Amino acid sequence: MKTLVVYSSLTGNTKKVAQAMAEVMPECTLVSVEEAPSRVDGYDLVAVGYWVDRGMPDGRTRAWLAGVERARLIFFGTLGAWPDSEHAKECMARGEAMAMEPSRGNTVLGSWLCQGKIDPKVLEVMARVAGGAHPMTEERRARIQEAAKHPDDDDCRRAQDFARLALERI
Ligand SMILES: Cc1cc2nc3c(=O)[nH]c(=O)nc-3n(C[C@H](O)[C@H](O)[C@H](O)COP(=O)(O)O)c2cc1C
Repeated sequence: MKTLVVYSSLTGNTKKVAQAMAEVMPECTLVSVEEAPSRVDGYDLVAVGYWVDRGMPDGRTRAWLAGVERARLIFFGTLGAWPDSEHAKECMARGEAMAMEPSRGNTVLGSWLCQGKIDPKVLEVMARVAGGAHPMTEERRARIQEAAKHPDDDDCRRAQDFARLALERI
């Protein structure tokens, strides 16, 4: 069995999870999305890791994914929001939908997200220009503080479990 892990990561959160997943995937090639092959026919499972950018997989992942055909896929990723939030569910659904046009022949086995620390520079800009859209509530402060601790070892283990479950289904 051959497997591929493709990840996109600006600040390292998604890369950390990708590295953990690659440890449990058989005959695994781990590549950043910038180096990812355009054809993935030869792989039995392709894990696609993205960071959430304004409610969807980041642009580099979207651009690469647009060319993926005849692949068995799982998605994983990191975001600032709670992983069990409606926002996270919508992000996962959007990611999966991007691979699912029937003519492309892809199969999606599932998605998994965990929190990832948000770049302080981004938080600063948001506070200045988008303070109205994202007011600093107690709930938001707590969520950002929790995100700052992730991805942690437990997230990496859960990502590995997610990959193992997908492998069992092949
Ligand atoms: C420009 C930008 C947009 C973001 N948009 C969202 C978002 O819509 N929802 C969310 O939960 N997190 C959002 N985040 C937080 C990132 O998804 C999160 O910090 C992620 O772990 C970054 O991953 P990386 O270290 O692999 O780049 C955003 C971050 C940036 C920089």
